[in-house]
Amino acid sequence: MYYFNDKENMNLIDAFIRVIGASVLFYMGITQDQILLFPISAFLLFTAVSKSCIFYSLFGINKSILKLNYYLNFLPKYNPSPVFIFTAEGEIGFQNSMSKELLPEIKNINSFGIHNYLDISFVQYKKDDLTYQVNVKYVTQMNAFFVYVTDISAVINLQTEIEETQIEIVDLMGMIGETRSKETGNHVKRVAEYSKLLALKLGLSEREAEMIRVASPMHDIGKVGIPDAILNKPGKLTYEEFEIMKMHSELGHDLLKNSQRDILKIAAIVAHEHHEKYNGKGYPQGLKGEEIHIYGRITSVADVFDALGSERVYKKAWDLDCILKLLKEERGVSFDPQIIDLFLENLEEFLVIRDSYQDVSERDLLNAILEEETTVA
Ligand SMILES: [Fe+2]
Ligand SMILES: [Fe+2]
Repeated sequence: MYYFNDKENMNLIDAFIRVIGASVLFYMGITQDQILLFPISAFLLFTAVSKSCIFYSLFGINKSILKLNYYLNFLPKYNPSPVFIFTAEGEIGFQNSMSKELLPEIKNINSFGIHNYLDISFVQYKKDDLTYQVNVKYVTQMNAFFVYVTDISAVINLQTEIEETQIEIVDLMGMIGETRSKETGNHVKRVAEYSKLLALKLGLSEREAEMIRVASPMHDIGKVGIPDAILNKPGKLTYEEFEIMKMHSELGHDLLKNSQRDILKIAAIVAHEHHEKYNGKGYPQGLKGEEIHIYGRITSVADVFDALGSERVYKKAWDLDCILKLLKEERGVSFDPQIIDLFLENLEEFLVIRDSYQDVSERDLLNAILEEETTVA
């Protein structure tokens, strides 16, 4: 079937050799009087002119296979991505031109940071500003590792940009929540850093702690839905006003709960549960002990520690001794005892954060502006 469907299965050199062969046979037929050589010569000539050989077809050689072989012949060498073949011992058995050009430092499979390479299917390899995905495949027939390297820097950069955009939006939303209640932007920054430090001290992973750092500034985002008169009221709130104020936990949670993004999901938990108390007397759900999500328990300590040390419309800033006394009193009452213990054990580190994100008071700000105006004048 191949013969009729895909008649040409011969290249030019092959056809040329057959023409010469046919001529020689024809000449021999004449000079040696061998009539039988004429039909053989004619047949050879016919195959050369039609560029098709029935014997090739019988062995499955056809034009598309010739073409495929032709291209495959060049593929490993000129593959636009780096390609390596490592022996079972990890030494380079083959590498293409791109691998030599882009990754000349690779001397064996360990250079990719792969040591236990039998279990590995891919790793990331960083060089300069680029990130490569190194796909490793052990090929039994070759008893060797086939390694294909792809530049994924663009994907990584895009992912980083998406994450950074999320972080920026979350930061801004957190600040909106705080400025609505006339608190300073640095309050949310400090809460974020305290929360991350507490998460790390609790043994959470660096990535999870970082997510908490990013999400915790949103704890009061629900305050965007609370009337100014209540938010900025100097002095104590009435029972009714406090009931309205308490709604900010639910409001914040409602704003964020439908997001599919990890950071916003954490922010939703933090917004919802940062006023829950360990003894079950908090709001809005009255959750108790470990029913309160660890993110909520962490942020509530961070938020209260910072809020007490800051001046607000309804109160003066407390001094450190009074704050520590309160935290100890509230250990196991409002706050998770383990978190308070970790906080007190590592107090120095929390104070470093507090000092590096100090608030600028309105008076300082006014003085700075007046000073500037005088200089300009
Ligand atoms: Fe709050
Ligand atoms: Fe707060």
